[in-house]
Amino acid sequence: MKERVALYPGSFDPITMGHLDILERATAIFDRVVVSVLRNPGKQPLFSVEERLELIRETVRPLGDQVQVDAFDGLTVAHAQQVGAIAIVRGLRALSDFETEFQMALMNRRLQPDVHTVFLMTSAPNVFMSSALVKEVCQLGGDVSEFVSPAVAEALRRRLGKPG
Ligand code: PNS
Repeated sequence: MKERVALYPGSFDPITMGHLDILERATAIFDRVVVSVLRNPGKQPLFSVEERLELIRETVRPLGDQVQVDAFDGLTVAHAQQVGAIAIVRGLRALSDFETEFQMALMNRRLQPDVHTVFLMTSAPNVFMSSALVKEVCQLGGDVSEFVSPAVAEALRRRLGKPG
């Protein structure tokens, strides 16, 4: 049977437990999931693309070789086709995510009707979680160890100059 591959695209600045939860559930549906960092010059990230890739690799290690990690430029649907993905996976947290995600999904379908978008509802404990909030909490001296992997927590503390 043909391998079912999904693309999980995003900024991942940095990857959180919310992302990991979506990813874990995506691996229950698809044979292989490619986590892909958008090389986005439009945003001012805290971590470089290479740093984010390394932090993702560390964080997803427990999921084994069903998960691959890469970066891309340009259209998500084009990258989905490049990696042989039949679907784009996105996590949905709350109503606030819906509008943008809905627009992106419809645009992506117009651009490439063969690539489906699959939304996975985030688990209840992660509804409030976002990379932006995790960075803010760490910046303000809060403990982020519940929200990110140990590698990411360490990288955040170092980057933001916070004691371990
Ligand atoms: O983690 P994010 O920042 O919510 O991810 C957003 C992302 C990378 C999925 C989105 O910005 C994207 O797909 N960008 C690629 C450009 C593209 O394909 N645009 C047209 C379709 S909406």
